Amino acid sequence: MKGLILSGGKGTRLYPLTYTRAKQLIPVANKPVLFRVIEAIRDANITEIGIVIGDTGPEIRETVGDGLQFGVQITYIEQDAPLGLAHAVKISEDFLGDDRFVMFLGDNVIQGGISSLIADFAHHPEWNSQIVLTAVEQPEQYGVAELNGEGRIARLIEKPKVPPSNLALVGIYMFDAHIFEAVHQIEPSFRGELEITDAIQWLIEHGYSVYPHVHTGWWIDTGRPHEMLTANSLVLEELTPCVEGTIDTDSEVDSRVTVEAGAEIINSVVRGPAIIGRNTRIINSYVGPFSSIYNDVVIENSEIERSIVLEHSAIRNIPARIQDSLIGRYAQVDINDVRPTAIKMHLGDYSRLGLL
Ligand code: TTP
Repeated sequence: MKGLILSGGKGTRLYPLTYTRAKQLIPVANKPVLFRVIEAIRDANITEIGIVIGDTGPEIRETVGDGLQFGVQITYIEQDAPLGLAHAVKISEDFLGDDRFVMFLGDNVIQGGISSLIADFAHHPEWNSQIVLTAVEQPEQYGVAELNGEGRIARLIEKPKVPPSNLALVGIYMFDAHIFEAVHQIEPSFRGELEITDAIQWLIEHGYSVYPHVHTGWWIDTGRPHEMLTANSLVLEELTPCVEGTIDTDSEVDSRVTVEAGAEIINSVVRGPAIIGRNTRIINSYVGPFSSIYNDVVIENSEIERSIVLEHSAIRNIPARIQDSLIGRYAQVDINDVRPTAIKMHLGDYSRLGLL
């Protein structure tokens, strides 16, 4: 089997962070989501992986490279514009050939990896496709599957007003080469995209067998800021803590905190689950649960909780606790006492600032 990761797209719902960075490279518990996806596929013993890239392709190529660092072989497939998930499959035909493959959205995080569901599909060579589903509370907001009496998928409906089930599509799909017939036949939807749900529906209507795999752990699409923070919390909860940096004797750091090499905790309190990145300094501060502070950050005389801070940023002298926040790279959040006092901001387009 081969793997196909979709890492094109625009990431508009994560502006402004995704103006300057591929959304799949935003770290969750200090590791880019895309790295987690590659590792999940590799752990299922799939080593030939294609990554579909768009405008942010150069950054992805540079960060991920040829795959050697993950023990896989990566082929990049350029998509001129984000014309839909089925379009991404269509342009990957040369890479995929006749192989069965798993397609994984590069911004999704799933609990427990994908080895068991890959094994399921591999044990049923007669299945043409298997789609990962999970029970959700508001199925009307998702693509939803209707199952037939024989345990197959009978129909897929996008955002149904009256949902036939509470089983929503997760961003993981397995196909054999018949999917190419489908992606060549379907037409763009009202939003101008070739939809993967239309391609799967085409398979069903043309007599191919599409089976469900109901995933029972958590699964997060990190498309929006609050989902990024939720994914971060869930992954942090499962992290095995490890302290490689230094903690001075005036600090209090609990056993669920990872302190990466070169990080320093000075006269501070850090409550886990949390991760402090390489060469980051926490000085006279409080870092609360569910925080991921990435590499080369400084937090001084401040308090932060349930937040993600990206590399090379600095937070200093903030009198209120920062919470539920996503702070990008090279950001400076600070208060100075030079008069006249005022709030001074250099915020990028689409930034959000919530003051007291
Ligand atoms: P989406 O989250 O549906 O789209 P997006 O990344 O453009 O985000 P937004 O809606 O915020 O603008 O995409 C899911 C994943 O699939 C994501 O990793 C990007 C990728 N993708 C492609 O590679 N090609 C495509 O044509 C599309 C639509 C998405």
